[in-house]
Amino acid sequence: MEPTGKRALITGAAAGIGRATALAFSERGVASVTLCDIDEARLQETAALVEAAGAAAVIRRLDVTDSADFERVFEETRFDIVFNNAGIVSGVPIYPDTPIARIELLVRINVTSVFVGTTLAVAHMRKHNIEGAIVNTASTGALRPHLDDAPYVSSKAAVLMFTQSCKGLQERFGIRVNAVLPGITDTDILDEIGGGKRPDSLAAHMRQVKVYRPSEIADAVLQLVEDEGLAGDYILLPNHALVGADA
Ligand code: NAI
Repeated sequence: MEPTGKRALITGAAAGIGRATALAFSERGVASVTLCDIDEARLQETAALVEAAGAAAVIRRLDVTDSADFERVFEETRFDIVFNNAGIVSGVPIYPDTPIARIELLVRINVTSVFVGTTLAVAHMRKHNIEGAIVNTASTGALRPHLDDAPYVSSKAAVLMFTQSCKGLQERFGIRVNAVLPGITDTDILDEIGGGKRPDSLAAHMRQVKVYRPSEIADAVLQLVEDEGLAGDYILLPNHALVGADA
């Protein structure tokens, strides 16, 4: 899809990868970006960046665990591109001591909201005859078992399988659903892994591997939107070891 003049909607747009993607879309010429998140103050900051890049910004406070609100926002918005990106990690205490309430919240944000966001987006695109593009945020963790954050990596595996299962929507409706699988990316979510402070072990690991900037993930999302040959596919951004890095 040629993004110029198109309308995009992004969840988790107040920070990190969502914000960088809003900016990348705007710089690539989209007409408008609907910015959805629970953090209204930081949504304002993203909106300012989008507008400075020449696109219209619409702010919507949306908690993606609230399906009724989700439905309302999707009904009131016109879009050709949806980026289902909001996500959280298990945090501390690490698995298997993760509180049940946190596991339930994680599944609602990382899994259910992606299923709901995709389903609502497909309904919208079919209704308005739009051959749109949907991108879901998974993670390299989707392909790599990890005990300490088992709920998180499993939630991302669910997003990947769901996305791959949606491949046939291209043939049926011309709607493409793809996923981005970022490796470690320098955003606030890394602090949440340690309950507000980046764990020392993670910081040490990050000195030895390539760590992505949010803008690099945004470029991959843009590629998934633009490349008409991709449906039910994903782009993997692994953290390669840095040659000669200090131990
Ligand atoms: P971030 O913490 O900077 O951004 C996440 C955004 O989601 C925040 O703005 C937050 O307010 C929003 N959010 C949280 N709960 C929400 C809810 N209930 N409703 C609406 N918005 C909500 O983190 P980052 O890194 O930008 O994360 C974006 C996505 O990328 C997530 O799905 C994450 O799992 C995924 N990811 C991140 C990686 C990383 O290393 N940073 C690696 C792989 C995947």
